[in-house]
Amino acid sequence: MSSIMEAKEIYDGHADLWVRHDPILLSDYSARPRVLELCGDVEGLTILDLGCGEGYVGRQLAKRGAASVAGYDVSSGMIAGAEQAAAAQRLDHLTYAVSDLRKAEFGDASQPVDMVIAVFLFNYMDTASMSRILDRVRKVLKPGGRFIFTVPHPLLPYIKPAEKPFYMRAEGGYLSSVDVPFPGRIWRRDGESVEVQAVHKTFTTYFSALNAAGFTRMPHVEELHITADHVALDPDFFGPLADLPLHVAFSLTS
Ligand SMILES: C[S@@+](CC[C@H](N)C(=O)[O-])C[C@H]1O[C@@H](n2cnc3c(N)ncnc32)[C@H](O)[C@@H]1O
Repeated sequence: MSSIMEAKEIYDGHADLWVRHDPILLSDYSARPRVLELCGDVEGLTILDLGCGEGYVGRQLAKRGAASVAGYDVSSGMIAGAEQAAAAQRLDHLTYAVSDLRKAEFGDASQPVDMVIAVFLFNYMDTASMSRILDRVRKVLKPGGRFIFTVPHPLLPYIKPAEKPFYMRAEGGYLSSVDVPFPGRIWRRDGESVEVQAVHKTFTTYFSALNAAGFTRMPHVEELHITADHVALDPDFFGPLADLPLHVAFSLTS
């Protein structure tokens, strides 16, 4: 069985391919616009962005009026890209820290925030690490605060061949492979691609971990996919993904 690859290695190695100002990665079309919609009106909100990468989502939240966005990422390459982009765009209410969220504390429980997001973070860690982060999210969110996160769809590795423009390759059975790392790759529309990883979890894994962390209200859950508009825009790129669930978005209230 392969071991969980260190996200730092994956992301420091190709941070330059992630840095972007306009949508180019598949998930910039299939996931991030919906994440921003789920965030809703962020005017004046304080936000933590866990696994912020080079800051693509946080910059958009800042431009939509967030009072502050604090990004954390284990990859110093990604954080360097985020800092450069924020400086170039004079977004001085964005702050960044290099941090391995599996081990380090984040946020300040004495000054809880309005919203926490984690866009494709939990697929880089096992259930125990995710659960520790979920506990901390509960502590740093205000009562009534919102937590929005996305992960690869748990079934995708079982229903989609390992081909472009996105795949996660199953390395074992659906139920028996929880916490097994599945290798994956996601393409950009310009033909470049980046390595990704899905440490496998089932829907039961997510719901049980959320419940154990005290998120006891019914979450809003969406299976994210491409649309007919995407296929019309670029049939070669998006066409192979028609009718497939690609990612899952969870939106919770503390
Ligand atoms: C798929 S990228 C997504 C980046 C960003 N959220 C976005 O949507 O553009 C996943 C990010 O999670 C970060 N990451 C993975 N494991 C982490 C950990 N243990 N602590 C902090 N960041 C981590 C990676 O370095 C990477 O930047």
